[in-house]
Amino acid sequence: MNAIDVDKHKQVWNSARTTKNYAAEETLQLPEQRIIEILKDQLPHMRMLDLGIGGGRTTLHYAPLVKEYVGSDYAENMVTICRERFHNAGAHVSFEQIDATDMSEVPDNSFDFVLFSYNSIDCVEPEDRVKVFQEARRVGKKGGYFAFSSHNIQYIDKMYTFKWHKTLRDFLYQFYRLVLLVYYNGFPGKYLRMNETVFRDGVERFSISLYYSKPDYQMQQLREQKFKNIRAFSVKTGKELTGEAFSSCKEAWIYYLCEI
Ligand SMILES: C[S@@+](CC[C@H](N)C(=O)[O-])C[C@H]1O[C@@H](n2cnc3c(N)ncnc32)[C@H](O)[C@@H]1O
Repeated sequence: MNAIDVDKHKQVWNSARTTKNYAAEETLQLPEQRIIEILKDQLPHMRMLDLGIGGGRTTLHYAPLVKEYVGSDYAENMVTICRERFHNAGAHVSFEQIDATDMSEVPDNSFDFVLFSYNSIDCVEPEDRVKVFQEARRVGKKGGYFAFSSHNIQYIDKMYTFKWHKTLRDFLYQFYRLVLLVYYNGFPGKYLRMNETVFRDGVERFSISLYYSKPDYQMQQLREQKFKNIRAFSVKTGKELTGEAFSSCKEAWIYYLCEI
């Protein structure tokens, strides 16, 4: 069974290669665009806390829209690169080193909108996920919002499918990836019966493992944490997923927008 090694994660996220790669990212994912549309009238009045910002991909789009923006990450080098990248962003934008599992330096009821984008929550050990949800509710204002995305366990078997490739190089790379998937995680069938797992999916050259769960199980976690009006969004279309389309979704990850 894989485990999330937080020290290894911090080492990877702090590395020069990873910080540089993430600081080159600019494109919003479709559900992140959809969330902007949903909150567009409220964003100009909002204090936003963006957790796990990496190189500031979401900063680029959200910071200009909100009243006050605090970008944060537990990796010091991600915070440093964001301070450099956005040094002209204006006085309403700042960056802090914050661990989403323990935001004790942030007072209660501070933010109208808390975002933890691009599956960053899946870097947290399974038993600490609940701390993130509790902290997001504590630092978020009542009636405010928490949004995040998380990996979908129902996608795992798709990773093992062998596709036709035009070049020998691509074919060999796919074969190499499949061998490593099996080596680290075993065969995919067992994941269809699980609610959650820690999986080594190849991110950052197979150096770290990440949390994956069933959409229904994720929804149950959010309800247990007393989030309200929980909405889910397709990463492929940006459209809201409800009912059976949500429960049986096989996309790689799903975005959630919840009221605090
Ligand atoms: C997959 S990257 C995503 C970066 C960025 N959100 C984006 O969309 O480009 C994950 C980021 O989450 C950060 N991270 C992981 N666990 C964290 C935690 N407990 N608290 C704060 N940041 C965390 C990592 O340092 C890394 O920058």
